[in-house]
Amino acid sequence: MGERNTIILAAGKGTRMKSKSYKVLHQICGKTMVDHVLTQVSQLDIQQIVTVVGYGATAVEAELGQRTEYVVQTEQLGTGDAVLRAEPLLQTAQGTTLVMSGDTPLFRARTLAKLFDFHEAQHAAATVLTSQAPDPTGYGRIVRDSSGNLNKIVEQKDATRSEQSLNEINTGVYVFDNQQLFTALHQVTNDNAQGEYYLTDVIEILKKSGAAVAAYQMDDFSESMGVNTRKAQADATKVMQARINNQHMENGVTIIDPASTYIDAGIEIGTDTIIEPGVQLQAGTKIGNECLIGAHSKLVASTLHDGVTVTSSTLDHAEMGDHSDIGPHSHLRPGAKIGPRVHIGNFCEVKQAELGADTKMGHLSYVGNAKLGRGINIGCGVIFANYDGKHKHETIVGDDCFIGSNANLIAPLTIADHSFIAAGSTITDDIDRYEMAIARQRQENKPNYYQKLPFNGTD
Ligand code: UD1
Ligand code: CA
Repeated sequence: MGERNTIILAAGKGTRMKSKSYKVLHQICGKTMVDHVLTQVSQLDIQQIVTVVGYGATAVEAELGQRTEYVVQTEQLGTGDAVLRAEPLLQTAQGTTLVMSGDTPLFRARTLAKLFDFHEAQHAAATVLTSQAPDPTGYGRIVRDSSGNLNKIVEQKDATRSEQSLNEINTGVYVFDNQQLFTALHQVTNDNAQGEYYLTDVIEILKKSGAAVAAYQMDDFSESMGVNTRKAQADATKVMQARINNQHMENGVTIIDPASTYIDAGIEIGTDTIIEPGVQLQAGTKIGNECLIGAHSKLVASTLHDGVTVTSSTLDHAEMGDHSDIGPHSHLRPGAKIGPRVHIGNFCEVKQAELGADTKMGHLSYVGNAKLGRGINIGCGVIFANYDGKHKHETIVGDDCFIGSNANLIAPLTIADHSFIAAGSTITDDIDRYEMAIARQRQENKPNYYQKLPFNGTD
């Protein structure tokens, strides 16, 4: 049966995306399209995976790393020419070669495996994966003869009117006998509407040479969607999102409204977690069991342990311990590390700071560049003044401190365990254990002053 190898085409610029970024690097659910393709292919038993890069070659290589080999197509002369660039790496291989595009992100490994099996059982020289498109516009059409056998693939721009009315499309996924693929590719010309060397012409060339070609129709068109435009990107995202959300629900996560819940690929969520509408969970996020992610929260590369409640808040590269809670309308920025059972209420911001277990910060506070111990009470409106205009400075607060409302803590500062800061104080000096620091003007009351006020005169 021989080896199984794969070629992924990713050299095109993607003009129809109207973007300064390269097409295959556009994302679907937080992961580039070409990465989706490679991830699925990598689940199969494949000897060599060769990715053809051209436009944005370095960016594509940086994205995919060592998971594939690369060949460069310097001029984008068409998909047939692109596959030919892989010849130096694959020319001696005996067996089957899968060719697919980096812009068809929805294919599943199991579909590709079925295609390999079908092709090898048929002993065909080439097998095209096809599907029935509700709207075939833009795709290559599958042309069959009167007995239903595959004749050729014709591109939209080269198709006659009657060919254009065909709904069976070329998904852009094929398996070939490796040797026959490269032999036929050398015979492809660019005599067509786009002046390109079409990979699709290989089918007709093989057929004319007397080789067996086959078509394998998959039943779910949505899996075969190709992304050439922003509209198609949005359509593909919808399909991928439904797939991701269904998987989480199967795993025991409650999603109140899957249609408005945006979860990136590759995120772990524990059982009995509830996700309300409008939530965005972005790449690198990890959520424990029995959490509640409230409506319109956004989590970027953040970790929640078990039983955490997030209410309409934004977390970015942050971590929250068991049974802590935050929100509504608070913001954890990179390096925020929140301990177990910590309570963060509304309109608070934490950046590059640790809050120890059971510490509470109910309202309107900012904590930056700080290390806070356990059981601390942070009053309303407390500000950690960490920046002198040039440098960031650190504040350390020990366990069981009480920081009164509207205190300003001017870093650098060390505040020992069991100390107390009076409300309204501006703290510039360290505080020792058991001390109370008060730094504010004493209040003075002037008797009978009200009557003297100008607006209150008698004449
Ligand atoms: C291609 C197929 C079409 C099929 C559709 C499925 C051809 C001629 N047409 O059309 O039959 O229905 O895919 O989605 O193959 N690429 C290169 N180098 C090039 C040109 C393209 O690497 O010189 C890459 C692109 O980056 C892309 C892939 O090949 O990942 C497909 O190219 P694209 O221009 O998107 O082809 P389609 O018009 O979608
Ligand atoms: Ca395409």
